[in-house]
Amino acid sequence: MKIVLEHLTKRFPNRNKKIKDEVIAVNDFNFTIPDGKLIGLLGPSGCGKSTALNLICGLEKPTEGKIYFGDLDVTGLAPEKRGVGLVFQNYALYPHLNVRENIRFPLENLRGDKKLTKEQMEEKVLEAAKLVQIDGLLDRKPNEMSGGQQQRVAIARALVKRPQVLLLDEPLSNLDARLRLQTREELKRIQQETGITTVFVTHDQEEAMSISDTIVVMKDGVLQQMGRPQEIYDEPINLFVAKFLGTPQINVFEGKISGEKVFIDDKAVMDAKGATDGEVYVAIRPEGFVVDENGPLTCSFINREVMGRDTSVVAHHERFLGETIRAIIPSEEVIEPKEGRVSFSLKPAKVRLFDRNTEERIRVQV
Ligand SMILES: Nc1ncnc2c1ncn2[C@@H]1O[C@H](COP(=O)(O)OP(=O)(O)OP(=O)(O)O)[C@@H](O)[C@H]1O
Ligand SMILES: [Mg+2]
Repeated sequence: MKIVLEHLTKRFPNRNKKIKDEVIAVNDFNFTIPDGKLIGLLGPSGCGKSTALNLICGLEKPTEGKIYFGDLDVTGLAPEKRGVGLVFQNYALYPHLNVRENIRFPLENLRGDKKLTKEQMEEKVLEAAKLVQIDGLLDRKPNEMSGGQQQRVAIARALVKRPQVLLLDEPLSNLDARLRLQTREELKRIQQETGITTVFVTHDQEEAMSISDTIVVMKDGVLQQMGRPQEIYDEPINLFVAKFLGTPQINVFEGKISGEKVFIDDKAVMDAKGATDGEVYVAIRPEGFVVDENGPLTCSFINREVMGRDTSVVAHHERFLGETIRAIIPSEEVIEPKEGRVSFSLKPAKVRLFDRNTEERIRVQV
């Protein structure tokens, strides 16, 4: 089921009467979520992710704009009529019901010609439980299961009505690192097997990158960029997106462009063909540094963290914005620092330039 958002906007009145401003939680969203794809809605806390999801499922009414499922305008339609499956961050299982009853719950409310017999319900419950591999636990109560198992019950409950759209709000946030990884792989498998159009909300860029067909990055209610994960990592349209994706974070320096060259302090660090002179941010991915005795970017060496195949060289520079520079270098290329200094040359393909005023990307010919 394709989902189309048209000028979708949600404003909340500010509860603090002294401040007149409203909160614009979702600001003029215009995009299409293609049928059968998994979209990652990514952004920092408070940027409007949950609100966007609640608008799509119908728990919130938009202030302006429209939502279409396929060609059908669902803007005024009640949540239960939209055919969506929803998983909340805190699973919200019924504690007094066992797994079977929890999963069956949405089926018991079906009325009219949709009403199911006991046998039909049992069949559907089993099918959903098998999909998330908890069919051996049907008689357990939620408090008799691990967090990951409870999470899967919540997913089975969302899937049991075979929704046309699956909406997941930070569904893995309470799991430990290993379970998180495992469950997200499972989610991806289930999504691909069922072909259900899925919106997955997270503030974890790595999670969004690994699971999504397409990522939507948002900030303060405004869509910043939409695209395939690699595309957003490689071609961020502004400094916010560049900084939000990638660990360690992209390294941002103050610099300038002069005579089609990029300078940090008075050192030309790379060419910038076709760019006009001006103050810029020079943002370098951790993998964009090359240890080079004669390199133009000389930093004070702080330490190195061995990661096995690679080493993270931690350094500092006067023009660097932030705590410490992190350069990821293949371990065999790391050399001893001389007098506490380490010099780098840069891989231009891993450097992005941004206007100092607008923080928009400046494109140069590479
Ligand atoms: N019912 C409400 N009334 C007033 N303001 C609200 C309401 N719900 C959300 N907001 C505000 O709207 C903005 C977006 O909130 P939302 O919950 O969508 O963010 P989020 O991206 O899901 O954040 P998080 O990652 O912390 O869950 C926030 O500034 C929040 O304070
Ligand atoms: Mg939220």
